[in-house]
Amino acid sequence: MANESGGRIDTVMHESRLFPPPTEFAASALVGSLAEYEALWRRSTDDAETFWGELAKNELHWFEPFGEVLRWNEPFAEWFVGGKTNLSYNCLDVHLDTPRRDKTAIIWEGEPGDQRRLSYAELHEEVCKFANVLRSLGVGTGDVVSIYMPMVPELAIAMLACARIGAVHSIIFGGFSATAIADRNNDAKAKLQITADAGWRRGKQLPLKETVDAALEESPTVEKCVVLRRVGCDVTMREGRDFWWDELMAEASDDCPAEALDSETPLFILYTSGSTGKPKGIKHTTAGYNLYTKMTARWVFDLKEDDVYWCTADIGWITGHSYVVYGMLANGATTLMYEGAPNAPDEGRFWEIIERYGVTIFYTAPTAIRAFMKWGDDWVTKRDLSSLRLLGTVGEGINPEAWIWYHKTVGGERCPIVDTWWQTETGGIMMSPLPGAIPTKPGSCTKPMPGIVPQIVSEDGTPVDTGFGGMLVIAKPWPGMLRGIWGDNDRYRKQYWEEVPGKYLTGDNARCDADGYYWIMGRIDDVINVSGHRLSTIEVESALVSHPAVAEAAAIGRHDELKGQAVAAFVTLRSGEASEELRQELKHHVREEIGAMAVPDDVRFTNSLPKTRSGKIMRRLLRDIAEGKESVGDTTTLEDYSVLASLRSSDE
Ligand code: WTA
Repeated sequence: MANESGGRIDTVMHESRLFPPPTEFAASALVGSLAEYEALWRRSTDDAETFWGELAKNELHWFEPFGEVLRWNEPFAEWFVGGKTNLSYNCLDVHLDTPRRDKTAIIWEGEPGDQRRLSYAELHEEVCKFANVLRSLGVGTGDVVSIYMPMVPELAIAMLACARIGAVHSIIFGGFSATAIADRNNDAKAKLQITADAGWRRGKQLPLKETVDAALEESPTVEKCVVLRRVGCDVTMREGRDFWWDELMAEASDDCPAEALDSETPLFILYTSGSTGKPKGIKHTTAGYNLYTKMTARWVFDLKEDDVYWCTADIGWITGHSYVVYGMLANGATTLMYEGAPNAPDEGRFWEIIERYGVTIFYTAPTAIRAFMKWGDDWVTKRDLSSLRLLGTVGEGINPEAWIWYHKTVGGERCPIVDTWWQTETGGIMMSPLPGAIPTKPGSCTKPMPGIVPQIVSEDGTPVDTGFGGMLVIAKPWPGMLRGIWGDNDRYRKQYWEEVPGKYLTGDNARCDADGYYWIMGRIDDVINVSGHRLSTIEVESALVSHPAVAEAAAIGRHDELKGQAVAAFVTLRSGEASEELRQELKHHVREEIGAMAVPDDVRFTNSLPKTRSGKIMRRLLRDIAEGKESVGDTTTLEDYSVLASLRSSDE
């Protein structure tokens, strides 16, 4: 590896393989060479406002034109000021007078094997009808609609219907508990709830309506609830509050012109974990998000008219918002949605789907890739995957071993891999190879998107030398950026803009190598990444401490082969005895409070937790203990040395 800085070798980096874009791929790519990418990037950052302003004019429909491209009143951005547009219009209506009218917009496969296809014209009709349903239930511009649904086309229909009338959707992933739904509903002051009777997951019915019933007991702002019949199981319908989706749709008119909405009309809230316990409602707005997801989808996935694109993310996460629904439909692409688990009925399900529909672009998470590797190559190789031309990853760093496996076994060594780095807050992809232009290095998300200016800085905000790790910040506003934390401008400012003045703090560490390639090194804060899901250690701790037996808890992320990170919890008891039964009870309690993805893999009981003199829990030390490493760090600030010995012996 190159000797990069002042004669010091960066010991972390030992990946030096370089995979240039395949010649044939590059020949027909939107951006077909490194020089072309570099020219595009330079133009986009030299005069960002002209760059984004021109794209906005050409790529979005405007009911009324915008004036200023950007009004930047740090840290508050307004993009395409004064313009009037509509995201639902830009995803649907714009295609209706083109050959895309009858093109498949959504291919859907349910877990039991049921299949549906919706053309752009059909999707438009459903969206118009559901927008009228929303109106008939008293929902208007600015009202928040909470959505807790399985991966079914009606979820996309509900989103687009909200966008059509200026209602703000807040989608809550189907794995969250009733308590988590209620917390989010109350923070957002949601007016309407949308759910389904149940969803399918590994052959079992997830009782969504039942969970919503419990959540609505604690959600006083929610007036009404629309229920989709997905599995046909029995549910309790409360007279006057609950309505069946199909009954409302049967009455609804399909005439619903898209409303001309101000560029900065809030589009959605998506709750994510931060370094404090309370989930934050990340706010995105209409025009900037629309443009940014549209352009990044086109650049990164190099979309062609006949592509069949499949992103396996659940719509309940940002990846699903931006690259299952909005970014794809804005480009008139065919997007595939699958309802269920990758191993239902067996571990070959994904490859069967790729073969069945001739999927050309496949976008998934490293945690899934590690599971595929574990399940064995046979599931993959027995299917015809020759339709694939491009692969992608998102959610966490991919280890080079998994990258190479993906490249060889799934991609047949012919498909470029786009490792896309971004966040709920960024709205869209921030760094990724453009597949026809940028040679890839396994484990690196390579280079920034047009218009994006990343920097690596030390704790005092000064740029660090090439090859050295530091905090990743973004130096210029971009159209897809979050517009704030719902109802909490102070927290928004503090969390993202104060630590490094004038720059957006991502919360990730990274380094940039001598070729200008970025390597993400994980989180700076107390956020852990389990199977590509962001969790705050403090949320897990708060859930544990809310159990009557628990006095104090510390949760940390430890390395896990499959999930990337797993949650390990250290617990001191207020009362009662440490027992296997209590351990199970605490796990169950976390499931009830937050959801299954937050359940700690290990729960260890201890008499006290190691703390610094100022009372901070020594997480680094706990991590070493959880990973079974001898403590290597400096422990001289430990409050109580005897704690250490007892923690080591408290292994499960
Ligand atoms: C991590 C998901 C390395 C990172 C779109 C980020 C990644 C957090 C990558 C955001 C990647 C996401 N390489 N790390 N390609 N993609 N991350 O909000 O720590 O669920 O800050 O958005 O995931 O997670 P979020």
